[in-house]
Amino acid sequence: MRTQVGIIGSGPAGLLLSQLLHLQGIDTVILERQSREHVQGRIRAGVLEMGTVQMLRDAQVHERMEREGIIHEGIGLAFAGRTERIDFAKHTGGGTVMIYGQTEVTRDLIEARLAAGGILKYECPAVAVEDYDTNQPRIIYEEDGQRKELVCDFVAGCDGYHGVSRQSVPQDKLTVYEKIYPFGWLGILSDVPPIDKELIYANHERGFALCSMRSHTRSRYYVQCGLDDRVENWTDDAFWDELRRRLPERVADNLVTGPRLEMSIAPLRSFVAEPMRFGNLFLAGDAAHIVPPTGAKGLNLAASDIFYLSRALIAYYGEKRTDLLDRYSETALRRVWKAIRFSWWFTSMTHRFDDDPINRRLQIAELDYITGSEAGQTTMAENYIGLPFETFE
Ligand code: APR
Ligand code: PHB
Repeated sequence: MRTQVGIIGSGPAGLLLSQLLHLQGIDTVILERQSREHVQGRIRAGVLEMGTVQMLRDAQVHERMEREGIIHEGIGLAFAGRTERIDFAKHTGGGTVMIYGQTEVTRDLIEARLAAGGILKYECPAVAVEDYDTNQPRIIYEEDGQRKELVCDFVAGCDGYHGVSRQSVPQDKLTVYEKIYPFGWLGILSDVPPIDKELIYANHERGFALCSMRSHTRSRYYVQCGLDDRVENWTDDAFWDELRRRLPERVADNLVTGPRLEMSIAPLRSFVAEPMRFGNLFLAGDAAHIVPPTGAKGLNLAASDIFYLSRALIAYYGEKRTDLLDRYSETALRRVWKAIRFSWWFTSMTHRFDDDPINRRLQIAELDYITGSEAGQTTMAENYIGLPFETFE
């Protein structure tokens, strides 16, 4: 089989790239290891930056998002028994975020690709990328137990942290930066109304907690847990009790509890692999970088990589230009590192790391400063709503 851009992975990065290229008449094939049901069933974060929202509009997959998504103009930061609001709109000249689950974004993109006759091959794991240093890179993949080949002009490695793209290049050509945090997040999804109109991030001596939502009737909550903790250790009641204890009393009083639709534990990691280009193989999204979920930057960073990569490929096919392809890695990485920094900082300020009392007092002082100063509120707001994309044309 042959295509112009071979895409490994049908997460948000691969799907968005495929859709944006399709709208410019560029052919793609997506190879995905899992089944469509598996991909659509994964529960992930649910906060879209304005830049991501605009990209979904550009990709013409915005209708359901505009209808069902909820615009938020701020978040709450809870600490030392009180809750302070960060007003995004006020500190960024009208900036907002959109509450709309990654699960829904993925579904909308899959439906749009299929409706346009796009080729999405599920249960077709890529096993290697070969000849990426030539102008005919090939993806070796399996279909029904048989080994097959997809010959391409370019390969987009959008296959997540555990994918095969990053593994297909000589490891001495990669520089890897990594930080593993000594805790995880235990999350619950439940059909109960959210505790508040906006998200609340809570620093508490028992550990971090986050009150999030998917809609006016569906809530997503998290509590920081140990790395060795297991979902089997938690009943629904135990989760709700722990969450309540980590919130200021006035907030906790509004908590409505219900049975879980899902409960899971996620570890926290910061990770960057540089560069994001090897010849005609381009890495994007989780294949190249991971952020801890504090601040919900994972999906948004995948979208910003695709902002640059789609433009570079469109300039190549439309105008035979290679300069944007040459600048992709350095340009994408500048924004990646700023989000890596923000997610690390937000995590550091809100989670319990150890029992040393000075660290907690420093966190409280920092939260007090950030929420009390105009400069501090602006820092939080402009990073949370998403830093601007660079001009790339
Ligand atoms: N062959 C084909 N597909 C693969 C392979 C492989 N060898 N390895 C992994 N995949 C698929 C995975 O099954 C997954 O569907 O690649 C896809 C990668 O998608 P995501 O993990 O969603 O990554 P990405 O598109 O970069 O989106 C980043 O999504 O995963 C979240 O937390 C992440 O929010 C972030 C965002
Ligand atoms: C979520 O809704 O799952 C979510 C929201 C905000 C975050 C992380 C996760 O920072």
